[in-house]
Amino acid sequence: MNTVSVEILKDLFYMGVNDRETNLFENMWPLPQGVSYNSYLIVDEKTALMDTVKITKVDGFIDSLKDNLNGKKLDYLVIHHMEPDHSGCIKTVRELYPDVVLVGNKKARGMISDYLDIEIGDNFLEVKDGDVLELGRRKLTFVNTPMVHWPESMVSYEPNDKILFSQDIFGGFGALNGTIFDDEMNFDFFQDEMRRYYSNIVGKYSKQAAKALEKVRNLDVKVICPVHGIVWRTNPERIIEEYVKYANQINEEGVVVVYGSMYGNTEKMADILARFLAEEGIKNVKIFDVSKTHDSYILSEIWKYKGVILGSCTYNNSVYPNMNQLLYTLKMNKINNHILGIFGSYGWSGGAVKELSEFASEGGNFEVLPTIVETKGTAKDEDIEALRQLAKEMAQALRA
Ligand code: FEO
Repeated sequence: MNTVSVEILKDLFYMGVNDRETNLFENMWPLPQGVSYNSYLIVDEKTALMDTVKITKVDGFIDSLKDNLNGKKLDYLVIHHMEPDHSGCIKTVRELYPDVVLVGNKKARGMISDYLDIEIGDNFLEVKDGDVLELGRRKLTFVNTPMVHWPESMVSYEPNDKILFSQDIFGGFGALNGTIFDDEMNFDFFQDEMRRYYSNIVGKYSKQAAKALEKVRNLDVKVICPVHGIVWRTNPERIIEEYVKYANQINEEGVVVVYGSMYGNTEKMADILARFLAEEGIKNVKIFDVSKTHDSYILSEIWKYKGVILGSCTYNNSVYPNMNQLLYTLKMNKINNHILGIFGSYGWSGGAVKELSEFASEGGNFEVLPTIVETKGTAKDEDIEALRQLAKEMAQALRA
């Protein structure tokens, strides 16, 4: 039981749990610093629980819910998002409070039957965009945010205290280590994990995220309560601005060099290239071995920086398999607004650079640099000069 309960404002409770056991979020994304699942409770003339948490944390969560209700019954359970990290305890809450009314949009209603296999009957209040639920002093206005992160996703806004319950939007990886609010912590500690969460979990739906953010920006928000990570009560503008950058792929000057190498020839090209980029005055240069670093981290760094240079050795006349996985990830997440460079090597017949070039034309919205460097075996003098030219072209394009 590790539920942390804190009163955010009078009669508004944070009830979050930290998950430091799960190794892979969605069984894919590494969680070295854990993750939090956040739920909230409003106690007013009517009581309303805002989402639940993952089922593995049900015991502490239910204890906390009972404590904060302090003998009152639960009137509403608002379902902003049906992914199981937030809907996991719905069944248990209903067993405990059989009269609770579930609140969600039409798509959520269908998903409750699909995912939880429960008959909700009349105990469901279907809400549309702009509908208002009165709780007493507080009320909730619902705003649909489809595909951020799932089709049924929606947020709710409480106008008296200007609170936004934002579900996955503004969330991030990383357990909350005692510090829950933005004014209690060093944001730099969480920033990379927030961007990794966004780029991998929401990145593909950035157009929809940008639309959702336009809706959110029209609201006067003082407190943001997301379902993962930091609760923003002092400077919500900071995370809104950060998310606007993520959603519109507004990136910084810098270059991510990613290589796949079996015997060191392509790795050597990456190091030479990085040195030339430094000589061109590029201060942010990051190199990743695609076989060593999980592609969720590489995607996150590519989301941050405008330049990306991909290098691959040739394996079975094709691009290196681990690089192929990264290309798939980049393509799926619709990389936009980037400058792309390509290099690679082969032993007796090519293939990797050809496939990287094909990716350049179909894998995203790139400005592709004209010099493509392909070596047979180890890089020779002329290859090194070509790498110098590639670095120059990247620096010029970044500063254009
Ligand atoms: Fe945190 Fe899309 O669930």
